[in-house]
Amino acid sequence: MEAFDVNQIADPAIYGDPARLQAFMTWLRTEHPVARAEPPGYRSFWVLTRHAHIREVERRADIFNAGPRSTLMPVEVEEMNRQFFGLEAGVESLVMIDGARHQELRAMTQDYFLPKNIRRLEAMVDGLADEFVGRLRSFAGGRCDIAADVVFWYPLRVAMTILGIPPADEARMLKLTHEIFGASDPAVRRPGLTIGEHLTTVVQEYAAFFAEVNARKLADPQDDVGTLIARGLEGARDLTPSERLGYYVIVATAGHDTTAASIAGGISALIDDPSLIARLRDDPALVKSFANEAIRYTAPVKHFFRTATQDYTIDDVVIRAGDHVMLNYGAATRDDAVFPDAQRFVADRTPNNHLAFGYGPHQCLGQFVAKLEIEAFFRAFSRNVTSVVADGPALYTQAAFVSGIRSLPVRLEMAAEASHAAH
Ligand code: HEM
Repeated sequence: MEAFDVNQIADPAIYGDPARLQAFMTWLRTEHPVARAEPPGYRSFWVLTRHAHIREVERRADIFNAGPRSTLMPVEVEEMNRQFFGLEAGVESLVMIDGARHQELRAMTQDYFLPKNIRRLEAMVDGLADEFVGRLRSFAGGRCDIAADVVFWYPLRVAMTILGIPPADEARMLKLTHEIFGASDPAVRRPGLTIGEHLTTVVQEYAAFFAEVNARKLADPQDDVGTLIARGLEGARDLTPSERLGYYVIVATAGHDTTAASIAGGISALIDDPSLIARLRDDPALVKSFANEAIRYTAPVKHFFRTATQDYTIDDVVIRAGDHVMLNYGAATRDDAVFPDAQRFVADRTPNNHLAFGYGPHQCLGQFVAKLEIEAFFRAFSRNVTSVVADGPALYTQAAFVSGIRSLPVRLEMAAEASHAAH
């Protein structure tokens, strides 16, 4: 097995090369399951890569806090964030708020995201899946960059609909989200800016954007998550400006870049196995397991952090009070102690209890929306497309937090008209 260096965990380039990233993760999981990382320019931390260890830490929310350190950032960026925004993460999102306050804030929108409510969104999501897959018919010779031309835009429209933000604002939103997640990627970062300068500029633009959204929602309340966030909580319990911005940002960003990465990964699996499109079209049950496998396989959220509030032993290693721990979802989703043939995309994999949505009190609020959207996309795709082949190399974002395919050139053959298999 190739030997790596634990500190490569902070090297954005490795996230741009999925085969190498998985070789690195396998090395960590097998040889150093509780590894100490001390990358230059970052505060040190532990890296957990095994499914069982990550679940254990997430379950022990009484010992491990989700904030204030939430994701991997260079010290230089954390310091700039502190100066500009008063907190090291820059944005105070739900995922880094602990205890009773977290429960109170999560409860504001939780009902909206429950399966029984999400079912109300089904027709809207199916309609959007048909519309966006339908766009594939407009590309000459069936050639397009299916990620950038189509896939990014569909979950974005779903997330914007959930927030109640009009399509006219989508291009601005997509650019800001790619810029916040891709800050470490020279292909994404604004020219001439350091990572810190880039991020503080982007966060300020986010703040200006959501201040406008908030004002519109207060003036014209609707049945959407934007209105719930704008309305907030009664009196002194109401959200601080920083909590409110963080809430908008997490629903907006977590709500589309992640799902887009899983859809692009699913298309990549269809390229690798040409028999799959017809199987998806003919077997609605397969669409469900396929969508969940696409989420496991791509694990678009690569990590979150926890901070120990007291000493705690994992695998005979003592994590000291105050130590930071990276929960590496990207590695846990490929743990062969849990997933037979973990490195292979298995369309009908069951059971598939992956940790791509996390676990415990912060488990992804949008997981049912994400699944609904991905399933709807592949139902529409399998009805309209008869073949998809690669038309150039897939490119991946070089970023350690949220990342996945950013460009996927393909050549498609379309069905003469969409088939209407029973679903
Ligand atoms: C494939 C798609 C997605 C993936 C892989 C994903 C992953 C995650 C992960 C790993 C967490 C943190 C869990 C933890 O700390 O244990 C999270 C939290 C969250 N996600 Fe997602 N997510 C996805 C889609 C969505 C969507 C579509 C939305 C909303 C429309 C959303 C909204 C949220 C929110 C609000 C939280 C914070 C929950 C809390 O802290 O209580 N996510 N997500």
